[in-house]
Amino acid sequence: MGNDYIEAARVFHEVTKHSYTSVRSSPHFLDWDNKPLPYKIYPGAASIPLPRDLNLSSTPTLAALSSYVPADFSAPIDTAALTRILFCADGLTRQKKVGDDDYHFRAAASAGALYPIEIYVAASEVEGLETGLYHFSPADLRMAGLRRGDWRSYLADAAAQRLSIRNARAVIALSAIYWRSEWKYRARAYRYCYWDGGTILANLLAAAAAEEISAEVITAFEDPALESLLGIDGEREGMIALVALGRTDEAATSSPPVEPLALETIPLSSNEVAYPDLVKMHHESRLATADEVAAVSAAKVRPSRSAPNANVLQLETITSEESAGLGETILRRGSSRAFAQEAITAEELATIMAASSDHPQADFPALTDTYLIVNAAEGLEPGAYYYNRDARAFELLKAGNFRGEAGYLCLEQPLGMDCSALVVYMADLERALSAFGNRGYGDAHLEAGILGGRAYLAAYSLGRGATGLTFYDDDTTKFFEPHAAGKSPLLMVALGVPRGRTKS
Ligand SMILES: Cc1cc2nc3c(=O)[nH]c(=O)nc-3n(C[C@H](O)[C@H](O)[C@H](O)COP(=O)(O)O)c2cc1C
Repeated sequence: MGNDYIEAARVFHEVTKHSYTSVRSSPHFLDWDNKPLPYKIYPGAASIPLPRDLNLSSTPTLAALSSYVPADFSAPIDTAALTRILFCADGLTRQKKVGDDDYHFRAAASAGALYPIEIYVAASEVEGLETGLYHFSPADLRMAGLRRGDWRSYLADAAAQRLSIRNARAVIALSAIYWRSEWKYRARAYRYCYWDGGTILANLLAAAAAEEISAEVITAFEDPALESLLGIDGEREGMIALVALGRTDEAATSSPPVEPLALETIPLSSNEVAYPDLVKMHHESRLATADEVAAVSAAKVRPSRSAPNANVLQLETITSEESAGLGETILRRGSSRAFAQEAITAEELATIMAASSDHPQADFPALTDTYLIVNAAEGLEPGAYYYNRDARAFELLKAGNFRGEAGYLCLEQPLGMDCSALVVYMADLERALSAFGNRGYGDAHLEAGILGGRAYLAAYSLGRGATGLTFYDDDTTKFFEPHAAGKSPLLMVALGVPRGRTKS
């Protein structure tokens, strides 16, 4: 049992697959009266307002997506910069009444608009903010004060002495309240929580880069230590990732003792349901000791196989300056609800793929591969492609019109048939699991979410549309075989021309 018992992830993946038959035979229905609240609210905590005149970044989105800020050159952080980063990651951007329901939409896409991710901030050197642990409240743009003190030393101890944490100006922690997503997706929600964590991280990393603040994603940490600090149980709410933000020469030396956190939160719905397959999967992915964290941190992944291909195309890309500013893109972003069956240009597609494909600064390596079904891209033959992330090249696997297949694979949603290109993030899960144990399962899904979240931003920055999509698992692998033999689809993102809207 534990992280090395990778049969746990294999079984979880298998039992949470979608197929033509499983979707039709599911007895699940949505209990609207029991729909969970998308916000965690601490009525008894000190509530600190964040600045509201945000003045979001005008840095071209494509530049923010692909720039890397070395820690040594990181800018200081003040409350305004931190607020912009948090708002771009998970801020409340739109409200809409649908029937009796008041939908709150956020900066990053979330499967089913259920928003399972919570954000905490351990601030150490943030000008204008007392050193301490906070919970970010997107609903009213405030922070709940949870603990006083500098928690970096404690966090670095929990994360194999990661230097980026010990010297950070702030450390962000992302957790998931599984029930929010389980309400609709049941045990499969575990995957969705990592995708949603990834889309938030895509926005957060771009916003940090636009502020010239370094950011590193970390997933190797002792879960029990994080759970105690945040006052979460690791079962109903579990850790997803840490982000070390900025750098200071004042490295942390000690943290206060962690007392139990006695802060009530408002119930999310009258009756929460726990799905045993999900609970077990997370339990078997937790790293319980410093030795387990050290083993995962030191693990090396075997090189990914990639068959040589004669049909390799490198396409022109659009310059960053032609993309909208990051703030404008984040406010403009939504998920396209219908596509017009029109073409985008090959140049636009190549730009979106290039801007979204660099591996993020993280403590885990690249685990995913990118495939596409190109339905209509002016200047690129329709067909199935492998996208070589390192060479930024499209490798044609089979030519042809696969609109029907694209529509079928994403659970028969017309969005797949009508989009210009369907991007499919896949991974050889055995490769991830053999290196990182069950933890590699979340890492691979998180990476797919980050790349997919960036693809959203790149598309919207060029006036195009995008939407995340879920899929029939084994049928998707079959479609891309033999190239994708042994790989599992993790996430799809459709790109295209939104129906009823011309390019802005
Ligand atoms: C991982 C992921 C999977 C999604 N799957 C679907 C899907 O299968 N069908 C769909 O119409 N939208 C899908 N979406 C889009 C969400 O429904 C959308 O993000 C959510 O309603 C919030 O709206 P917004 O993106 O416009 O802010 C998905 C989004 C994500 C991040």
